[in-house]
Amino acid sequence: MTRPHAPRIVYVNGAFLPFEEARIPIMDRGFLFGDGIYEVTAVLEGRLIDNDPHLLRLDRSLAGIGIRNPYSLAEWTTIQRQLMRDNALEEGLIYIEVTRGVYEREFTCPPDIPPTVVMFTQVKPVRDNPNLTRGAAIITVPDLRWARRDIKSTALLAQVLAKQEAKAAGVAEAWMVEDGFVTEGASSTAFLVTENDEIVTRPLSQAVLPGITRMAIIEVAKAMGLRLVERPFAVEEIATAREAFFTSASTIAMPVVQVDGRQVGGGQPGPVVRALRERYLAAVMEQPREDARQS
Ligand code: PDD
Repeated sequence: MTRPHAPRIVYVNGAFLPFEEARIPIMDRGFLFGDGIYEVTAVLEGRLIDNDPHLLRLDRSLAGIGIRNPYSLAEWTTIQRQLMRDNALEEGLIYIEVTRGVYEREFTCPPDIPPTVVMFTQVKPVRDNPNLTRGAAIITVPDLRWARRDIKSTALLAQVLAKQEAKAAGVAEAWMVEDGFVTEGASSTAFLVTENDEIVTRPLSQAVLPGITRMAIIEVAKAMGLRLVERPFAVEEIATAREAFFTSASTIAMPVVQVDGRQVGGGQPGPVVRALRERYLAAVMEQPREDARQS
């Protein structure tokens, strides 16, 4: 049972505080330069979903930009569980942000300033997304991002613009395109199911974020004996695909039924994405709730 989000408790640099009292100095490098990284873990029925891989990616992002990880995996998890308890969070998201810290506005700063850590929860329907039954419409946009998209940087201007374009077009997501090939969604990993019943998604590289849900869904596909091919796909391939879908912590696996105004796969959510999603959720629900574990 989720109670209303009041009082909302957030975490800032070691303290659990009412949302209204939480403050970050204006000289924080996350604010001034986007000099930080973030991570998002979904919560379903009191469970942190795929949390260890999310925390490992957090560690990798920090290492990628030379910020020391202030906590161990166990310490991060303890704070997440405390936030879940304090906010009675049953379903939604836990957001983590780590910035290089606070210093006078100069491009460089000493290596040993303490990083800023902010964490908060968001109540959100993760499982019962309104787009699920009919499937999502999306648009394609040019990929305007930097060259290290494997780092989960808080510098998200290109994604914000892509999402705003999607919203203005009345659709749920934007797939970003570079040299005629889809890189990924503005906040998701892109997949197709081809005419030959191959599930296709782009291989990992610096061009895309190594999606945690991507990894989990690939495992499910393999366990189901489905054929999975990691290769870039061109925008034109969408037209002949049986199915299209995207994955992320917050949407799990979302069928796509329309791209740039053209129907995909007969305009109905396809059986492959539905089966992958169901199998994945069934496995997740076999895990114990966080409040039934030691922390
Ligand atoms: N976004 N690609 C991009 C560019 C993303 O921002 C995300 C996640 C993904 C999917 O990754 P994962 O399966 O690990 O959530 C792929 C999060 C949810 C966000 O920005 O809110």
